[in-house]
Amino acid sequence: MTSPSMFDANSLDRNLGMELVRVTESAALAGGLWAGRGDKIGVDGAAVRAMRDTLNTVNLRGTVIIGEGEKDEAPMLANGEKVGNGWGPEVDVAVDPVDGTRLCAEGRPNAISVMAIAAAGSMYDPSAFYYMKKISTGPEAADAIDVDASVEENIKNVAKAKNKSVRDITVVVLDRPRHDDLQAAIREAGAKVRLIADGDVAGAVAAAKHGNSVDLMMGIGGTPEGIITAAAMRCMGGAIQGRLWPKTDEEIARAESGQYDTDKVLHTNDLCSTDDCFFCTTGVTNGDMVGGVSFRSHGAYTRSLVMRGTSGTIRFIEGFHRLEKLQALSNEYARGLPQIGSL
Ligand code: FBP
Repeated sequence: MTSPSMFDANSLDRNLGMELVRVTESAALAGGLWAGRGDKIGVDGAAVRAMRDTLNTVNLRGTVIIGEGEKDEAPMLANGEKVGNGWGPEVDVAVDPVDGTRLCAEGRPNAISVMAIAAAGSMYDPSAFYYMKKISTGPEAADAIDVDASVEENIKNVAKAKNKSVRDITVVVLDRPRHDDLQAAIREAGAKVRLIADGDVAGAVAAAKHGNSVDLMMGIGGTPEGIITAAAMRCMGGAIQGRLWPKTDEEIARAESGQYDTDKVLHTNDLCSTDDCFFCTTGVTNGDMVGGVSFRSHGAYTRSLVMRGTSGTIRFIEGFHRLEKLQALSNEYARGLPQIGSL
């Protein structure tokens, strides 16, 4: 798929970015009501409903390519579901109403609501395998990563590309037993590990941001998150590489059927094949990338980040949402559970 220039009349309307902010804001506000209540399904259910309601007001003819949720049997926007108000451009849609559902339910930092859209036909369909082995980094080292190379080689090459010493390289890794060897290899190579409990989209974006304290994201995480990350990398000029990682018996049988090439390295372009895309996120709980929702007696504050692939523009948007207006506008608030006024 070709990518349009910044002013191409055929590219997605740049103002769509603001519409997407409304979408992730609504999911973050709804999910945020459940923060710290120990109820993952409550978090996901509220965020999914709010995201769907708001997405369906946007001028789009969208198809959900990544709806998430299947892995945990949580509420979800279904893959293949049509979203948008039925007008406007045809797009592929990737959503994770809350990336870090557990973080939110446990009242921990770094839960975000996140989505990406791209011109129709440009996103990889991740439904066959839930996990993939991933490596990603920002623009300076985008050509230096190789998911097939050793951990040591990747770290050395990224350090060289960033003109840093290996000992100053920090790698973001999901804190999982499956990553024990990876952690050991990173330390063995002389670099540092930054463990995250959940949320590898935020981890990858952090590693791609110029001047950040982390340089690389490595490990096995969700394929849906990999595609959302690919859209972010297209906006930021970074890169992701991945390889499908069958886990369940069903997935292993699927891999052995020869129908899928699990040896194939999936590059940024395979996961999201156009710059004609947007990435948008709103913090649910406070995080390194964006602040979380702060509820006040009269309303709530949100912090969002929206990026456009065609121009590479990155915007931070702070919003204040008046409680009584929110209740009139949003079904989720009209449902009123739990009541924000009482928080
Ligand atoms: P959700 O909150 O959307 O379920 O995902 C959280 C997450 O940490 C992702 O960021 C990551 O890609 C995936 O889960 C890793 O899966 P697992 O928790 O099964 O290791």
